[in-house]
Amino acid sequence: MKNVNVVLGAFYGDEGKGKIIDYLSRNAKYAVRFSGGNNAGHSIEVNNVKFAFHLLPSGILNKNIKAILGNGVVIDPKVLLEEIDNLKEHGYKVDNLYISEKAHVILPYHIILDELLESIRGKNKIGTTKRGIGPAYCDKFERCGIRMEDFISDSFYDLLKINIANKNVFLKAYGYPELKFDDVYKEYSSYAKKLKKYVCDTTTMLHKAIKKNENILCEGAQATLLDIDFGSYPFVTSSNPTIGGVSTGTGIGSRYINEVIGVIKAYSSRVGEGPYVTEQKNAIGDMIRELGHEYGTTTKRPRRCGWLDIVALNYAIMINGMTSIALNHLDTIGKLDKIKLCVAYKYNGKITTDFSTNMDFLNNSEAVYEEFEGNFGDISKCKTFDELPLKAQKYVQRIEELTNTPIKFIGTGAGRDDIIVRE
Ligand code: IMO
Ligand code: MG
Repeated sequence: MKNVNVVLGAFYGDEGKGKIIDYLSRNAKYAVRFSGGNNAGHSIEVNNVKFAFHLLPSGILNKNIKAILGNGVVIDPKVLLEEIDNLKEHGYKVDNLYISEKAHVILPYHIILDELLESIRGKNKIGTTKRGIGPAYCDKFERCGIRMEDFISDSFYDLLKINIANKNVFLKAYGYPELKFDDVYKEYSSYAKKLKKYVCDTTTMLHKAIKKNENILCEGAQATLLDIDFGSYPFVTSSNPTIGGVSTGTGIGSRYINEVIGVIKAYSSRVGEGPYVTEQKNAIGDMIRELGHEYGTTTKRPRRCGWLDIVALNYAIMINGMTSIALNHLDTIGKLDKIKLCVAYKYNGKITTDFSTNMDFLNNSEAVYEEFEGNFGDISKCKTFDELPLKAQKYVQRIEELTNTPIKFIGTGAGRDDIIVRE
């Protein structure tokens, strides 16, 4: 009964999880988001239409799939309705969406507070997506959050009233305009009406599927190094995008999990503040950004770019128990003359391959590189590993060797079918 597969980001997000999810969802009956919210940005191109999902599981494009927003997700109802409408405009019925009654709702004060808290942090800002994610999770753990089941019921009125009164005290203290309860209630209760039909007990639903041996695909958002516990705190998101988040964010215990696929790019990127050992703040980083179109799907921010980091990757494999790797953008890195791969760090004069999220360690470690030949040529037509140029094979094999983990998927281009699958 191990029919749950999980796709997780290994680094700082934007590894191209959408592409792998899109491929795997062809064989899945359920596609589940378990953590985060619309801070994510997963793009998939179908019949020349580019879809950018922030909240909906990307698997929803497969009409035979049941798409679930699990209890661990924080939901901005306005954004969700926009995504649903966009799908409808493209001919999707969206009658295959199920939202956990336990998922928490992002309300306007969360978004304002995200912005306000960032401005208070000043030069120590995190560089959040300003989507209200952190404040929404704060309320969840403070136990004043509003869950979907509250949102669609009469209790929304009282809960919202208390919350707005409390948040206004804070907003006023910082000279921000106060929120007007009546306006927010009117707008958001209209969203609640529209979303009500999707709200249900998704945990029971998933367990019925597990019993029937139906395939479930859990779609990670964000990534290991953005994890609130295992990432580069405080430069992280406010949830657990790592493997534990699958269980707490869906109600599926670890015994049902089969494959855990870690997604990486053949280089690396980070958006927002925080340490980044293999970052290239130079012409190479600029070139990777342009070749890989490394600009945010969610915030349009230029991403910081650098080399692939095996030290961090092995940490992600360890934390999540990743069983295989999906390597994206091999075509992109193959456009460079020379490619570097970080195989160790030098910290306090000592070479180490042990990763740590200790800030001093991350801020003062220097990457130790191996160099590879680039110039792979056009690899988008390669459908098997053997068809790849030897130079490309060598790079992929070295990553497998250093991680002791099979690379099962290789992204060879931007298109949906530009992928090599190795069984
Ligand atoms: P996907 O799913 C890249 C980053 C933000 C910021 C930090 C905290 O597309 O890989 P938050 O708004 O979550 O409080 O911001 O986390 N971040 C991401 N970076 N991809 C993402 O998602 C991200 N989600 C959050 O840039 O540094
Ligand atoms: Mg992103």
